[in-house]
Amino acid sequence: MRIGVLGATGPAGRGLAARLADNGFEVLAGSRDPAKSARVVAELQDRWGRRVAGIRPVANHAACDADVVIVAVQADAALATARYFADQLVGRIVVSMANNLVRRGTEFNAVLPPHGSIAKEMQALLWRSKVCTAFHLVPAAEFVDLSLKMASDVVACGDDDGARRTLMELIAAIPDLRAFDGGSLENAVGMETFAAVLLTINLRHKVRASLRLGGIP
Ligand SMILES: NC(=O)c1ccc[n+]([C@@H]2O[C@H](COP(=O)([O-])OP(=O)(O)OC[C@H]3O[C@@H](n4cnc5c(N)ncnc54)[C@H](OP(=O)(O)O)[C@@H]3O)[C@@H](O)[C@H]2O)c1
Repeated sequence: MRIGVLGATGPAGRGLAARLADNGFEVLAGSRDPAKSARVVAELQDRWGRRVAGIRPVANHAACDADVVIVAVQADAALATARYFADQLVGRIVVSMANNLVRRGTEFNAVLPPHGSIAKEMQALLWRSKVCTAFHLVPAAEFVDLSLKMASDVVACGDDDGARRTLMELIAAIPDLRAFDGGSLENAVGMETFAAVLLTINLRHKVRASLRLGGIP
């Protein structure tokens, strides 16, 4: 399966690109500036060698030419980026991982658009694509250090059952990352706002917690 990552030069996008390539996926690492993407991919390949040989640096528009396209751009640019590439994304599975957060003192809060979540807003913009969400609570640092065992659980949401299943298979293909079905995009707001809670906990308790569900054999 070919995966496109828009904004693969940031910590989250490059980490995901590295993990996916390490697990046999073909990854198109996108950027607004292909030279920047080339630099980032070269850094990853210097560090991890053949493990990440499957990553190709491209411009964002070329990264849309994939079965699954992950929008990993800066959170407040996620909707504008989706709108810009709407035509190239027709019929594809598009994954939002955006947590649009604002820090107020020692607390983070989610900034939600009119449709209730970034994911719902994205689906409204990309009405010819299958928008799903995942990865909101996985720290970028956990993805990018391939010597670390993944320790997070990932909840996938999406209105299209087939798209959500495909995304869960992709998540589960990464060793030690457990995939859970969180239902339709109605529930994406829960992940986007919980990200604000989790970051507040991390800030106030001086920890780096992520999501791990208990009670599951
Ligand atoms: N960091 C984490 O631990 C983490 C965890 C879970 C979820 N997330 C989510 O994952 C996404 C990426 O996080 P990040 O920390 O990697 O973000 P980031 O470093 O702030 O930005 C990622 C990339 O977005 C692109 N970008 C910046 N401004 C843009 C604009 N105005 N229009 C289009 N592209 C723009 C840049 O790539 P180019 O300059 O190469 O185009 C940048 O390298 C966010 O939505 C975040 O909420 C992050």
